[in-house]
Amino acid sequence: MQELRRICDTHGILLICDEVQAGCGRTGKWWAVQHCGVEPDIITIAKGIASGMPLGVTLTRAEIMDWVPGSHASTFGGNPVCIAAALATMDVLEREGVANSAKVGAHMKQRMSKVGWRRIVRWRRARQRPVIRRRDRDRQREEDVAATRARDSA
Ligand SMILES: Cc1ncc(COP(=O)(O)O)c(C=O)c1O
Repeated sequence: MQELRRICDTHGILLICDEVQAGCGRTGKWWAVQHCGVEPDIITIAKGIASGMPLGVTLTRAEIMDWVPGSHASTFGGNPVCIAAALATMDVLEREGVANSAKVGAHMKQRMSKVGWRRIVRWRRARQRPVIRRRDRDRQREEDVAATRARDSA
């Protein structure tokens, strides 16, 4: 990310971070990019910012946001209800949400480092095996039925 910032600065390019999935306190900071010590020019936000109410946000500095009306569009640009949901969400995030993510994240990281990644991967594979076997068996059954039908109609 720091190299991207340097390249953008050198060539006058805006650095845009899509934080639709990673932002809104999920990583223990308001924006995931903050973990890199980089300040982007624009952050795009949606989903979590209004707790599931449809809202998309373009976050940037005032000097960048000098676009004339109609020069950009958003499916869920904003309406009073969703903006109220976003304000309430930000209130919760500010009060406790971001700090809680940081706390829970640190706890999980610490516990998972004790278990070890290999064991977690093995455990997941073991849990998926019966599902894969069932899927293969169902597929085989469908092929047998199709083959019988084709034989009968011939
Ligand atoms: C990473 C990412 N960026 C952008 C979008 C688009 O968000 P929206 O449909 O709210 O504009 C999505 C939607 O799932 C997404 O996952």
